[in-house]
Amino acid sequence: MVKLGVNIDHVATLREARKINYPDPVYAAVLAELGGCDGITVHLREDRRHIKERDLYLLKDTIKTRLNLEMSTNEEIVKIALKVKPDMVTLVPEKRQELTTEGGLDVVKNKKKITEVVETLKKAGIEVFIFIDADRKQIETAKKIGAEGIEIHTGRYAEARTKKELEKEFLKIKEAVQFSLDMDLITSAGHGLNYHNVRKIADIPGLYELNIGHSIISYALYVGMERAVRDMVNIIRG
Ligand code: PXP
Repeated sequence: MVKLGVNIDHVATLREARKINYPDPVYAAVLAELGGCDGITVHLREDRRHIKERDLYLLKDTIKTRLNLEMSTNEEIVKIALKVKPDMVTLVPEKRQELTTEGGLDVVKNKKKITEVVETLKKAGIEVFIFIDADRKQIETAKKIGAEGIEIHTGRYAEARTKKELEKEFLKIKEAVQFSLDMDLITSAGHGLNYHNVRKIADIPGLYELNIGHSIISYALYVGMERAVRDMVNIIRG
């Protein structure tokens, strides 16, 4: 059954709006676990706009499921990852000006740098995933450079405005999942998924995990974190 990783970055976004000490993403992580998620995901961005080192250390000590650290290949961030030792890392592209991650990491173009980081993290016993677009060449390269898994970018599916476009993006993801599984990669997906568009993706056979953040944290404002997570778990597990 497909797992749910809850991205709690936006609890920290709300905290940082006032630069105070609440709401605390660590509380949110515990409630997400009570709601039945399988893992907690956070993105330590170079500009620290939401998650900070303090959150990483406390989450590592507190949560009972699995900590997935999303990060760029920036040297300082790699050093922090080696200190915190999350259960897994997902390498993502990062641009300062973007509102959120805009697409997959280009493993083909940045092969040398990414290979170095993958090797360093694996040597430290951290499982490495790479966030990439639904593209065969990217998937093949991720496998070649030693990633244990990939997370396929679902952002364009989530943003599709017509039925035709939605179907096209969905088929691309479905084919990429099969291709990735054939290459023996653990295969997850995420970005832009919400209570309305997730079911179709969750039904793709063989998917390991869905990483979902913004929609769950938004819904949690109305119904609370635990219920927001439980409702998502119920949708994705049918
Ligand atoms: N997966 C990755 C790699 C991401 O960068 C993000 C956003 O931080 C997510 C999943 C979650 O996306 P969303 O907040 O749109 O659910």
